[in-house]
Amino acid sequence: MTAIHVLNGPNLNLLGKREPAIYGSASLDDIRDLLQARCAARGVTLVFRQSNHEGDLVSWIQEAGQAKAPVILNAGALTHTSIALYDAIKGSEASVIEVHLSNVHARESFRHHSYISPAARGVIAGFGPTSYLLALDAIFEKL
Ligand code: DQA
Repeated sequence: MTAIHVLNGPNLNLLGKREPAIYGSASLDDIRDLLQARCAARGVTLVFRQSNHEGDLVSWIQEAGQAKAPVILNAGALTHTSIALYDAIKGSEASVIEVHLSNVHARESFRHHSYISPAARGVIAGFGPTSYLLALDAIFEKL
C-alpha cells in the first residue's frame, strides 16, 4: 500500500465550530492528527485533504484510483447530490470507504440517500471522528 487518501468535502473545514451538537468539538486538524499517528505507527503515508469544491474531490478520487490507493471519503453534503463523485469512483476504480461523523439515517430525509454508497466498498456513519478510525482499521484489516 503506497498511501491512504482521506478526502473531505464541503464545510468540513468548519469542524469544531460547526453545529457542535451534531458534529462534536474535534476539528479537522484533530482528526488528521489521530489518523496520522495510526498511519505513522504502521509506516503508511497519509494524504489528508479537504475542499469545498466538487471538482477538487473528483480530481483527488481519480488520482487515488490511478495510484491504487485506498480512499476514506467524507463527501459532506455532496454525498447526497453528486453524480460526479459516483462517476469518479466508478471511472477510476477507486476503493472508497464512505464515512460520516453523524448518523445520516437518523437525520433529515434528504440525508438518507447517498450517491457514494453504491460505488463504495463500505459505509461507516455515526461515530464522530471514530468513523474515520474504523475506516482506517478496515483498510488495515481488509485491503
Ligand atoms: C456529514 C453528513 C452530511 O449529511 C453533511 O452534509 C456533512 C457532514 C457527516 O460527516 O456527518 O457535511 O457527511
